Amino acid sequence: MTPQEIFSQLPRNRVGEADRRYMNEVLDAGFSNTKDPAGIGARFERAFAEKFRVKYAIAMNSGSGTMLSALIAAGIGPGDEVIVPTLTAAATAFVVVECGAVPVFADIDPVTFCIAPSDIERKITPFTKGIIPVSIYGLSPDYDAIMALAKRHNLTVIEDNAQCFLGTYKGRLVGTIGHCASFSFQGSKHMTSGGDGGATVTDDEAYAREIRKISHQGFKTLSGRAGEGVVPRNLRQDWAFERHDRLGYNFRISAMQSALGLAQLERLDYLVAARRYIASRYEATIRETGCDWLTPPVTPEGLTHAYWTYVCKLDEKRLGADWREFRKRYLANGGDGLYSAWRPVHLEPIFRSMAYFGGSRERSPNFDPRYRGTVKSYQEGDCPVFEGMQKTLCQFKTSFQTLEKTERQAEALRLTILSFKR
Ligand SMILES: Cc1ncc(COP(=O)(O)O)c(C=O)c1O
Repeated sequence: MTPQEIFSQLPRNRVGEADRRYMNEVLDAGFSNTKDPAGIGARFERAFAEKFRVKYAIAMNSGSGTMLSALIAAGIGPGDEVIVPTLTAAATAFVVVECGAVPVFADIDPVTFCIAPSDIERKITPFTKGIIPVSIYGLSPDYDAIMALAKRHNLTVIEDNAQCFLGTYKGRLVGTIGHCASFSFQGSKHMTSGGDGGATVTDDEAYAREIRKISHQGFKTLSGRAGEGVVPRNLRQDWAFERHDRLGYNFRISAMQSALGLAQLERLDYLVAARRYIASRYEATIRETGCDWLTPPVTPEGLTHAYWTYVCKLDEKRLGADWREFRKRYLANGGDGLYSAWRPVHLEPIFRSMAYFGGSRERSPNFDPRYRGTVKSYQEGDCPVFEGMQKTLCQFKTSFQTLEKTERQAEALRLTILSFKR
């Protein structure tokens, strides 16, 4: 596909003809007591499952509810530990606390920035019940090693693919390797269902059913099949119907969000191709300018990157300036923002204090009497690789929807690199 072909398929403001058509279908069908008279939710779930070649896709209102329901459905709760990377959105660790378990933070591989299997192994205890590996910035972690550890220790693996759409790992679509996978449709992601949304996918029928029930208010009769998030009318209207056989949350996606999600899913190949093309433009710029103080991201053999962002390591010594100066210069040259890496999650104030439920740390899962493990605090030194590297990472945006904007950004980077050469 040429860049022109890719970008010709992308509406500038991310709202296209199909988005409007599906939204209008929902509006034309109107809103009755039935949640989704247009049946758009079922169509979106079916299409998402087909795209990722899995049996079940359960759409929700966020990529956090997706992970929380997957944890609870796996039977994970108070007394358990779940291993998460320290380089991720806090949501990956929040959901562990929200289900009552203890997050255990693993360090990253310094080359791929993904969770390091060696550190997972070091942190597995008799209390570990799950791992949430994250395809950070759009690149899959080493799933062969992770799945081998999971098998050996009988752990549930929930892939956090919020940032990875259509990435592959050794010929497999990322999202089809763990016991289930979570996707986010929040606004910064490859596709969005109107600013927020998410989906969990799995091939496991029983797991899918429990995930559906937990995210759809615990109704007894629901299933993981597309659109089966509503109790059939003859059942739900009957006086004898016992509705709830488990605790549930309301993480349902709306019909309007599903309409947008369906339209964006139809052009997902182009949305991902655009991010890959934008990454290639940054890469070419670094190469062509002979810049030796920005290290481009590395994609290991056999993997394909989905480039949620394009992340380089900045060598401040070689550059002779610091990260903030580099960012200032990039912005002055027309760069559209430059993000640092998030702070290591285990050092965020809420994890340092563990005052998740107000009051003292004694109310946290780490001090629950059912928890027999030893993780009683989070501190510097827990994940030294990422702690030492966080300040050097530069995330260049890849979310541009036009070729002109893409070229302007590559030019901004070129000018910035050259300006430091003088
Ligand atoms: C890696 C990662 N995990 C989880 C989330 C949470 O997703 P959501 O905002 O849809 O709840 C995000 C992004 O927001 C993310 O980037």
